[in-house]
Amino acid sequence: MHFELTEEQLMIRQAARDFAQTELKPGVIERDEHQKFPAEQVKKLGELGFLGMMVSPQYGGSGMDAVSYVLVMEELSKIDASASVVVSVNNSLVCYGLEKYGTEAQKEKYLVPLAKGEKIGAFCLSEPEAGSDATSQKTTAIDMGDHYLLNGTKNWITNGGNASTYLVIAQTDAAKKHNGINALIVEKGMEGFTIGPKENKLGIRGSDTHSLMFTDVKVPKENRIAEDGFGFKFAMQTLEGGRIGIAAQALGIASGAYELALQYSKERKAFGKAISDLQAIQFKLADMATEIEAARLLCLKAAWQKDHGLPYGQASSMAKLYASDVAMRTTVEAVQIHGGYGFVKEYHVERLMRDAKITQIYEGTSEIQKIVISREVLK
Ligand code: CAA
Repeated sequence: MHFELTEEQLMIRQAARDFAQTELKPGVIERDEHQKFPAEQVKKLGELGFLGMMVSPQYGGSGMDAVSYVLVMEELSKIDASASVVVSVNNSLVCYGLEKYGTEAQKEKYLVPLAKGEKIGAFCLSEPEAGSDATSQKTTAIDMGDHYLLNGTKNWITNGGNASTYLVIAQTDAAKKHNGINALIVEKGMEGFTIGPKENKLGIRGSDTHSLMFTDVKVPKENRIAEDGFGFKFAMQTLEGGRIGIAAQALGIASGAYELALQYSKERKAFGKAISDLQAIQFKLADMATEIEAARLLCLKAAWQKDHGLPYGQASSMAKLYASDVAMRTTVEAVQIHGGYGFVKEYHVERLMRDAKITQIYEGTSEIQKIVISREVLK
C-alpha cells in the first residue's frame, strides 16, 4: 500500500489551496448573503483547467486523475462549497458522461467547451415527483423520427441558470419503464426551454439552483447519448463518479470548519487559559480530526478504484454517506467551539454548517447511499 501522493498531485492540491485562499475567500460571505453565483471565480477555475480536470487533453481537458479531483474538491470546499459544486457537477456529471458515452461529434461540439471551462453544464434528473425514486420520470421525450419532443419539468438543477449545456433524462417509452428512458443534450435557448427563478436555499446559496421547464422542445436525434433506452443507466453510472465529488466536497466542508475551530481554540481564552487547554475542547478536536481522516481515506480509496479501472459504486456511496455525516457533525461542533462568535457570519463556520446539510441530500440522499451499499453487501 502506498499512502503518499505524487509530486503532481501535491502541486495540484497546493494550486487549489492557493486559489481558494486568494480567489474564493474574499467575498464568500457576501456571495452567500446575496445568493450571488461566483461567476468570475468559476471563469478562473475554468482557465486553470479545473472544470474539465479529468477529461483527456484530446478534448480540451487537463487529463488528471480522480485522486487529484478529490484533493481539489477538498481544498475548494474548505472555503466555498457554492463554487466547488460547479467543479463537481461539470466534471463528474456532465464531462464524464459525455466523454465516456458521447459520439465524436457530441464530444467536439459539447465536451470541448465544457472541459475548457468556456461553458458550464447541468445534469437534469430530479423532478417534482422523482427525486430518490429516479426511475419515475414524468418528463417525456417522444420519438418523432428525426428528433425528440421534450415536455416536462426538472427540479433542483445545479447550474440551472448559468449552464449552456444540459443533460436531460426523460422517458421515451413508458411501457419499457427504466429501459425506455433516454439522456438528451439540450442547449440553452432551444425554443420551448425556460428557466424558473433561482431557489432561495439554506446553504450553498451562491450556487445556482433552478427549476427547468420544457414545452415541446425539439431535440435533434443526434443529441441522444448512447443507444435508445440507456438514459437511466447513463444517469446511474455518472452519479457513481459524482458521489466521489460530493463526498470530497463534504470532506472539505468538514476540514475547513475543523481548521477554523482548531485555530480559534488556540486563540480564545477562558478560565485563564486558551480553550484548547480544556479537555472538553481537546476531545472535540480529537473526534473531528479522526473522523475527517477516515472520510478522507474513503474518498481517496473510491477515487483510486476509479483510477485503476475497478468498480467504485459501493466505494463512492460509502465515501459520500460517511463524509456527509462527518461534515454535519464537524460543522456543528465547530460552531459550538466558537461559541457566540460561531453564530455570526464573520467567522465562516455557520456558513459551513449550513452548506454541509446539502451533502446528505444531493446526488442521492444518505438513505439512497445505504440502499446502494446494502445491495452490494447482500449480493
Ligand atoms: N450503474 C449501472 N446501472 C445501474 C446502476 C449503476 N450504478 N444502478 C442501477 N442500475 C440499473 C440496474 O441494473 C437496473 O437495470 P436492469 O433492470 O437492466 O438490471 C436499472 O438500473 C434499474 O435499477 P434498480 O432496479 O436498482 O432501480 P431502483 O428503482 O431500485 O433505483 C436507486 C435505484 C439506486 C434507488 C436509484 O433510483 C437512485 O440512485 N436514486 C437516487 C437518484 C439520485 O442520486 N439523484 C440525484 C440527483 S442529481 C443531483 O443531485 C445533481 C446535482 O445537481 C448536484
